[in-house]
Amino acid sequence: MNTQIGLHRISHFFDAPHGRISLFEEIDLVFEGGKTHAIVGPSGVGKSSLLSLAAGLEPPKHGEVSFMLDGRELTTTQLRRNSGFVFQQFHLLPELDALGNIALPLKLGGDRQAYAQASDWLERVNLQDRASHKPTEMSGGEQQRVAIARAFATAPAFVFADEPTGNLDAATSATITDLMFSFAEETGAALIVVTHSDALARRAHSRLALSPSGIEALA
Ligand SMILES: Nc1ncnc2c1ncn2[C@@H]1O[C@H](COP(=O)(O)OP(=O)(O)O)[C@@H](O)[C@H]1O
Ligand SMILES: [Mg+2]
Repeated sequence: MNTQIGLHRISHFFDAPHGRISLFEEIDLVFEGGKTHAIVGPSGVGKSSLLSLAAGLEPPKHGEVSFMLDGRELTTTQLRRNSGFVFQQFHLLPELDALGNIALPLKLGGDRQAYAQASDWLERVNLQDRASHKPTEMSGGEQQRVAIARAFATAPAFVFADEPTGNLDAATSATITDLMFSFAEETGAALIVVTHSDALARRAHSRLALSPSGIEALA
């Protein structure tokens, strides 16, 4: 049961008008399946870029990224079908209600029980009474609970979260953190989460600290 994302001698940079922004130079990293991983570091250091590379959303400038699910190598398209995403700005579809947002990836995956499953997940994030609310009719914490339900509903092998509590107050952040970690543990999904929250990072099995001088695994 070998499930992991491997980054092999990755270098990544952006060529901006005023010069090259160099983010990573020949780094090696592994994100193991079934584990929780936190990525921390100051703003602008490359955390979101690293998450994009690990999620196969963009290729590195040099080096290779490999995706394995139960010992089989996945293409980026196959990885996408086995991934869930949670963002700082929630990114729900504005024209769909809470239930519709959770059901959408299930429907796209061909699940004929999409609405029943979505309804189940809505209950699991304690929002059954917000089923027909559009994103503008929900608080930030409620929107993020919908986003978490949407991310886990398809039973993905990997969930990528970019500062999921960055726009939330402390109490709401704690709820969101609890939900993500308990769903990851229960479903066996690997959780790879960029965060500024020490409380969240401490819960992860592994922690990576990014700084301008490189990447360091924290104890
Ligand atoms: N598409 C892009 N083109 C040019 N520069 C970029 C691009 N994406 C990010 N950057 C730059 O790369 C650096 C790292 O960005 P990012 O990965 O978003 O950092 P973090 O998530 O740690 O705040 C920043 O200086 C940012 O301005
Ligand atoms: Mg970022």
